[in-house]
Amino acid sequence: MTTSTILRNGFSAPVHHHRTRFFLVMMRLNLKFLLVCLCFAVFLITFTLWTNCGSDLPFARGLVPKWNHRYDSVDNQLELTEEIDCVINQEYTIGCRREGDEIYLPFSFLSKYFEVYGSLNTVDGAKRFDWSHSYGKVNNPKGIYDPKGIFMYFENYNVEMRDRVKCISAIEGVPISTQWESQGYFYATQIAQFGLSHYSKNLTEPEPRRKVIEDGEKELADWRVPKNSSLSRSYMKDKDTTVVHFSTGKHFDSAIALPMDHVLDLVLSVNLLLRPNSSFMVTLQNRETQKLYNVIYILADLMMSVQDDNIYYGIGQNSTSTWRRLTRDLFVDLQKGLPQYINTEKRRKMRRTELKVVEISFLGNGSFDNLTLSTSEHISHFYDAAEWMIRHQDQSTGGWPIPVRRKLGVGFGELSRGWYSAMSQGHAISLLARAYHHSKGDKRYLKAALDGLKLFRIPSYQGGVLATFLGKYAWYEEYPTTPPSFVLNGFIYSLLGLYDLNSTAPANHSNEAASLFEQGMLSLKKMLLLFDTGSGTSYDLRHFTLGIAPNLARWDYHATHVNQLLLLATIDPNPIISQTAERWKNYMLGKRAQHN
Ligand SMILES: *[C@@H]1O[C@H](CO)[C@@H](O)[C@H](O)[C@H]1NC(C)=O
Ligand SMILES: *[C@@H]1O[C@H](CO)[C@@H](O)[C@H](O)[C@H]1NC(C)=O
Ligand SMILES: *[C@@H]1O[C@H](CO)[C@@H](O)[C@H](O)[C@H]1NC(C)=O
Ligand SMILES: *[C@@H]1O[C@H](CO)[C@@H](O)[C@H](O)[C@H]1NC(C)=O
Ligand SMILES: *[C@@H]1O[C@H](CO)[C@@H](O)[C@H](O)[C@H]1NC(C)=O
Ligand SMILES: *[C@@H]1O[C@H](CO)[C@@H](O)[C@H](O)[C@H]1NC(C)=O
Ligand SMILES: *[C@@H]1O[C@H](CO)[C@@H](O)[C@H](O)[C@H]1NC(C)=O
Ligand SMILES: *[C@@H]1O[C@H](CO)[C@@H](O)[C@H](O)[C@H]1NC(C)=O
Repeated sequence: MTTSTILRNGFSAPVHHHRTRFFLVMMRLNLKFLLVCLCFAVFLITFTLWTNCGSDLPFARGLVPKWNHRYDSVDNQLELTEEIDCVINQEYTIGCRREGDEIYLPFSFLSKYFEVYGSLNTVDGAKRFDWSHSYGKVNNPKGIYDPKGIFMYFENYNVEMRDRVKCISAIEGVPISTQWESQGYFYATQIAQFGLSHYSKNLTEPEPRRKVIEDGEKELADWRVPKNSSLSRSYMKDKDTTVVHFSTGKHFDSAIALPMDHVLDLVLSVNLLLRPNSSFMVTLQNRETQKLYNVIYILADLMMSVQDDNIYYGIGQNSTSTWRRLTRDLFVDLQKGLPQYINTEKRRKMRRTELKVVEISFLGNGSFDNLTLSTSEHISHFYDAAEWMIRHQDQSTGGWPIPVRRKLGVGFGELSRGWYSAMSQGHAISLLARAYHHSKGDKRYLKAALDGLKLFRIPSYQGGVLATFLGKYAWYEEYPTTPPSFVLNGFIYSLLGLYDLNSTAPANHSNEAASLFEQGMLSLKKMLLLFDTGSGTSYDLRHFTLGIAPNLARWDYHATHVNQLLLLATIDPNPIISQTAERWKNYMLGKRAQHN
């Protein structure tokens, strides 16, 4: 049979087509445990069927592949093996095998029945089967959480490459989300994660390599200047620096261009002033296919537009004839433009190392300075995100409104456009607190972060993010639904924001963040175990507020819960946090709470 590896999100394993009898040994499982497992599984299946009522996949059918009888006789080691029917809960039958007293069930069945994961691997030349109970990943904190240091384990995040990121806006320098609306919108949570991941990468990655291509003074490039076009360098008094001016005709053959052969350093930055109808273009080549692509930055209010091998990004009408600093990851800019015109079967993610820059050119009239290619420019991306927060904060509420509607689930009222999230607020505050620290005290960041606290005091039914559990415990809602949903991970993220601000702000400014944090930690300790199912966690408390089945956290969310608690345990010694973190971690290895 074919061992199809039943894998989910990020669980990587080679897929082997291995035509051997391949069974999973259900050995030494005592009857009791088996019963518990079965009961649990029946619950899970029922639950899955419930929530799947739209699909017409009867559970039993197609679950188990047919045995291929031919192989039994070929392989004489199977002599002692006998086929036997396994009747599952008296509901349906699958083919199993018996060897002496032992019964073997196919892993493809077990995998679906128990939602476990497995893969055939070769280790030191020997084949082996790896079974895992979950696909979540635990990140053990490396030390006591530092609000000025890396945020959680976000140095591992690559926000811009997520599928639900349409592209990085060249107007704002931050990602555009397509998570809940396909045309794209700015989502403060995602923008903050983008900034926090770059801040964290700056602290963990090796120093970037930077190559200044042209700065008008020390580094002068050998530009190709067509007839009737011109290039000159002159000193600008107001900026106290020498810049490059260019003037060309309207057609691309009149552009001033710099041919090059530059690999690896694919983050471009430039100070740029473009007169009307001018543009700036980078030509990239895939070193394997030799294919050429143009990434073109134009003066338009455009997210991204693709025509053949030309990918256009708008840097904004408002950038006309003003100096702008642009920092672009060319690999990301190209990659985001590719899927739309490469036919789907050949669509394949490109690797960074496959690309090289073969030309940079300017068309029209304008000036530029400090044209540089680097391996990374994390701090620029970080400040792009922080500046976005400053520009787009609602001055009266201190919130970052989310411009799309959101329905959390049946039974909850819909959140209408412009809703606020405690998670966005918290993430934005974590970002701004770090910007305040990194900029050595730029007050704009502090003020925006402090203003971001206002919504934490306003009840969700009045447009804020505050819910109260049983009239007693304050909870900051990731989704301020009616009735409250009490989503755990978003709440903890909001607590981290409060903690970060209290630790970063000057003493006389930090009281509000400190008291909101203390109030939230009290609720967390009282309510944490309401999320514990004995074998996993629930994502929210809808089973309580709506009186329906619990919304079990899938493994990556469960792992987030664990990672958040492990982090909180480094700053709060209360054993409820560390002990719960340990127990929840063990759920990921199949351990369960004891039964009576
Ligand atoms: C981190 O940022 C500093 C500027 O704050 C910069 O000098 C340094 O090169 C950056 N390092 C990395 C790895 O990005
Ligand atoms: C340059 O400009 C002159 C007059 O402005 C024109 O006659 C000539 O054709 C142009 N040459 C090119 C190569 O565009
Ligand atoms: C820019 O181009 C448009 C269309 O080609 C034209 O109508 C407009 O006059 C141009 N503007 C300038 C300032 O050259
Ligand atoms: C351009 O600037 C004007 C005035 O400052 C502003 O109202 C408008 O929103 C800006 N447009 C964009 C796309 O940023
Ligand atoms: C650039 O400026 C020159 C002279 O001012 C003008 O003739 C030319 O059309 C401009 N180029 C573009 C693309 O607008
Ligand atoms: C180019 O960089 C230098 C050094 O950081 C800076 O002083 C100068 O103002 C920059 N050029 C422009 C046009 O902003
Ligand atoms: C906080 O203290 C600083 C310096 O001690 C002072 O300048 C500032 O006005 C104070 N702010 C508040 C809100 O008390
Ligand atoms: C807030 O920050 C101050 C100064 O760092 C610290 O003494 C205090 O314990 C913090 N409060 C909380 C609730 O963490």
